[in-house]
Amino acid sequence: AAINSGSARTDLDMQAYEERLEARLGKSREMMRVVLNKAKSDPKRVALAEGTDEKMVRAAYQMQDQGIAEPVLVGDEESITAIAADLGLDFDPEVVDPKNGDWDHYADRLYELRRRKGLTKNEANEWIHNDTNYFASVMVEEGDADAMLTGLTHHYPSALRPPLQVIGTAPEANYAAGVYLLTFKNRVIFCADTTVNLDPDAETLAEVTKHTADLARRFNVEPRAAMLSYSNFGSVTNEGTRKPRDAVKLMHDDPEVDFQVDGEMQADTAVVEDILEGTYEFSQLDDPANVLVFPNLEAGNIGYKLLQRLGGAEAIGPMLVGMDKPVHVLQRGDEVKDIVNLGAVAVVDAQNE
Ligand code: ACO
Repeated sequence: AAINSGSARTDLDMQAYEERLEARLGKSREMMRVVLNKAKSDPKRVALAEGTDEKMVRAAYQMQDQGIAEPVLVGDEESITAIAADLGLDFDPEVVDPKNGDWDHYADRLYELRRRKGLTKNEANEWIHNDTNYFASVMVEEGDADAMLTGLTHHYPSALRPPLQVIGTAPEANYAAGVYLLTFKNRVIFCADTTVNLDPDAETLAEVTKHTADLARRFNVEPRAAMLSYSNFGSVTNEGTRKPRDAVKLMHDDPEVDFQVDGEMQADTAVVEDILEGTYEFSQLDDPANVLVFPNLEAGNIGYKLLQRLGGAEAIGPMLVGMDKPVHVLQRGDEVKDIVNLGAVAVVDAQNE
């Protein structure tokens, strides 16, 4: 009997779990559908810097097949064609092979961009032919592709550095940042910065918040941003809590900031309506926040991973914001669906260029 009642409970648990999963995936799918439909309305050329990676080839196939993007696989042509054939894909991918063809103009451009940063002509030549992250970055910078994805086979900082050096930030921006969209049963949350700025000052936090709010609107979400800390509106005062507080002041004084933002506040204040309305009813946020800006990279990276793994959120990202052209740096080990999702986000970014 004990075993029977145990298994009945398990069945019920499983059913409840599956219902929760379905509800959550439903929200996630809904969010991605917004972006996928926008992408399909005007697909753009997306350079996949790690073209010889099997997952990239599969992702390229899906993006092309579903009309999300026009993928360009960067890498050794023979290997890419062989991978596509081995996978049995009915797919004749567009391949750009840095070792084959005349890419002197890319080497010249890289040299022109970086010669006053210590790069020699020989190094520029070497990097263009042997480092597909530099090749794809120049390709996008030159307008031969509209967007770039990389990162699957590299450590995040080394995949990020070439686009930062070659493409750089948008004219009105100084900082790039990595944003994760987390979808829960009844809500979505954008977390920033989860991947780039180690110890941001108030100006950086304010800029990252504005980029993230813009991104939220691209997903049809009206942003309400909370600057997170371990302090609530001045309850603890030191250098750490002052940065998010100063960032709020900068944004409240900025006439271009047209979304709700407040803080500094603790994470539960940001997401629990009763705390926000009961104790901090003076806050600018009239509903719980959906943009969470963390005070530093440790908090941001740890925070989103805990939410994803323990809170059971579905994650889309990391989406790089603040760049001059759309670039997204995947995490090592990301799945094909993650690549396709970020490809769609990149296409939508490119449509806004
Ligand atoms: N935003 C925009 N551009 C930047 C930024 C930034 N936050 N930081 C540096 N840059 C630019 C610089 O201006 C410089 O350009 P320049 O050469 O034209 O002047 C170029 O990038 C290189 O910058 P450096 O100062 O030499 O910095 P470095 O290369 O050492 O590091 C990096 C930059 C890679 C972003 C570094 O800050 C870093 O490692 N950040 C953390 C990345 C990380 O480990 N993330 C967590 C794990 S990832 C994950 O979980 C998915």
